[in-house]
Amino acid sequence: MTDVIDAVALELKGDILVARVDNPPVNALSHAVRAGLVAAVDRLEQSDDARAMVIICAGRTFMAGADIREFGKPMKDPQLGQVIDRLDACDKPIVAAMHGTALGGGLEVALACSYRIAVADARFGLPEVTLGLLPGSGGIVRTPRLIGVEAALPLITEGRPIGADHARKIGLIDEIAPGDLRGDAVAYADHIVAGGAKLRRTSDLPVPDYDRAILDQARKSLSRKFKGQDAPQQAVDLIEMVSDTPFRDAADREFAACKALVASPQSKALRHVFAAERAALKIDGVPRDTQPRDVRKVAVVGPGTMGRGIAICFLDVGLPVVLIGNSQETLDKADTVIRKIYGGQVKRGRLTESQVDDRLALLTLTLDYGRLDGVDLAIEAVTEDMDVKKTVLSNLEETLHDRAIIATNTSFLDIETLASSLARPENFAGMHFFNPANVMKLLENVRATKTAPDVLATMTTFGRKLGKTPVMVGRSEGFVANRMLSKRSREAQFLLEDGATPQQVDRVLTEFGFPIGPFALADLAGMDIMAAARQARMHGMTQRERECDIVDQLAAAGRLGRKSGSGYYRYDDEGKAQPDPAVEEILAAHRARRGLPQRDITDQEILERCLYAMVNEGALLLDEGGAARPGDIDVIWTSGFGWPRHLGGPMFWADQIGLAKIKDALDTYCDLVGDQYFTPANLIETRVAEGRGFFD
Ligand code: COA
Repeated sequence: MTDVIDAVALELKGDILVARVDNPPVNALSHAVRAGLVAAVDRLEQSDDARAMVIICAGRTFMAGADIREFGKPMKDPQLGQVIDRLDACDKPIVAAMHGTALGGGLEVALACSYRIAVADARFGLPEVTLGLLPGSGGIVRTPRLIGVEAALPLITEGRPIGADHARKIGLIDEIAPGDLRGDAVAYADHIVAGGAKLRRTSDLPVPDYDRAILDQARKSLSRKFKGQDAPQQAVDLIEMVSDTPFRDAADREFAACKALVASPQSKALRHVFAAERAALKIDGVPRDTQPRDVRKVAVVGPGTMGRGIAICFLDVGLPVVLIGNSQETLDKADTVIRKIYGGQVKRGRLTESQVDDRLALLTLTLDYGRLDGVDLAIEAVTEDMDVKKTVLSNLEETLHDRAIIATNTSFLDIETLASSLARPENFAGMHFFNPANVMKLLENVRATKTAPDVLATMTTFGRKLGKTPVMVGRSEGFVANRMLSKRSREAQFLLEDGATPQQVDRVLTEFGFPIGPFALADLAGMDIMAAARQARMHGMTQRERECDIVDQLAAAGRLGRKSGSGYYRYDDEGKAQPDPAVEEILAAHRARRGLPQRDITDQEILERCLYAMVNEGALLLDEGGAARPGDIDVIWTSGFGWPRHLGGPMFWADQIGLAKIKDALDTYCDLVGDQYFTPANLIETRVAEGRGFFD
């Protein structure tokens, strides 16, 4: 017998009913799936032939959660909670058979079944908090009953999935399928039937006793990990509530709490980032079925800080790397530094000695371009000098095979000028990593006019393979992240000239949600590095920017930041930053010298000047084609530069503030600071005139 009820197909195998969910791409619990599951339980109960049921999914994964596209719209019955109640109340046993990722509502379905079996590489999680939500259909009431509060806490409050071995150890699943999941799950159900078909309702279990102190510990650590976010804290409150409240009552309260969060600004922002991250992988002019090129071996030219970090990224995913230098000395240094970085990872328990040996065995350090045989992708990371880079690119092109991709890691040189120096510009693009390249998630891939679509596709898929968040950007000076950052830095510096203190600016921006303020960050990077970066940008600076040389003054005074014990701050014996009267004096002398009046600066002015300057620059980049979509800019800032995810990124945030309000403020700062810094981008002008935001 086979028939199909919406997205759930039913088949009787002996006396086991198999319900197969098929709702590509991730079997989200859309209406058709919910209705199909209820119909499957009806069939199971009504059928004399069926003594138990297996729920299994087609395609790449078990149900990966509620259908995010239905959020915020009226949801058709049966609601997920009704489906879960129906599964829970069923008078015959149901086995959830899981592969891929059983997430959110998908895991809640499994928790409402009597038994759970999964393949060895399946993963399980309640990621709702990462979307500013809470499990609302039994995840919070059932998980602590099944595995205890201590094990349930990280699952519910942090949203990080766990693997099958761990899930079995803590009792989240019962069995790991040794062979074919469907066959094993049916055999398992047969075994249950043979044993008397016992029902095991998680809802009947008590919450095991636990030490209440772990709740406060969780609250504290979550306030650090998810700074400013409401859902993780609420999750802890609900777990506490669940342990003191009868099941039904607790389930109703869980649902109400989740429902309230769907409309919260934080959840809207987090869902926006989730969608924007996926949209960023779709590249204009690259059809979805474009086949990426194979990348089996890579080369990095330039064994400096960036080149070494990039090489480590490749070694970490098991790719052979040829690292080319122009002197034995730099290669030896690269060898030492790479070994030191890996040594640190062994010390921290992240890697074993033998894993490090395997990685180092993939690394060839050489002076010789002749060693590039078989290389499919080469990245140059040599000094930021147009002529030097052009020479390296030509050398690579002469040596590599015709379809090898050649990429530049330039931060600010013109991508089209570099492309024009090549005979095969279709193979060329930018891959802009951020320091430290082996740690930072963001990867700005840069397209040039002639870059071939399959090269663009390769850079995106390859970026993901490296564990990065790749975002495709276009030609523009400084690309997206650094260019917007430079506007925030400029305003932070000007604010010091106008009368603010480093600690005031840092406080305002960390209270906003950045993990660190610009001045504490500069102290971390080192004032010598900041001063050198400033020199490199000098040609494009205005008169005021050139004269605003506080960085140079601090560097000249030996205040190099943390490493020298003082910079914008003074560092005490425990390494804590303290405001420093000496900096006040340097600033006062600077203002006096330049004849700048000091005034009281409000927190609002600091926030607006630093952040509206970034929003305006983002809009300019959209005007120029430096960024393709406002969502791409949000992904860049939330994944790379610490913009709080629950505020959705600068462009989403700007829409929440309202572009008309932002334009008014920009006009005000044109008067106060200067037109050359705050003239609103065309995009802002037109959107305000049309009464629209960036995302409307
Ligand atoms: N509802 C609707 N669509 C979803 C979805 C969901 N819960 N989860 C993923 N999708 C869509 C994605 O938007 C993407 O669509 P696209 O191809 O049109 O861009 C597609 O499914 C594939 O997702 P993607 O994330 O690119 O695939 P992946 O294999 O890398 O990861 C998951 C798969 C399931 C691990 C990942 O999508 C995920 O974490 N989803 C969210 C799960 C979740 O939070 N569930 C709880 C919701 S309350």
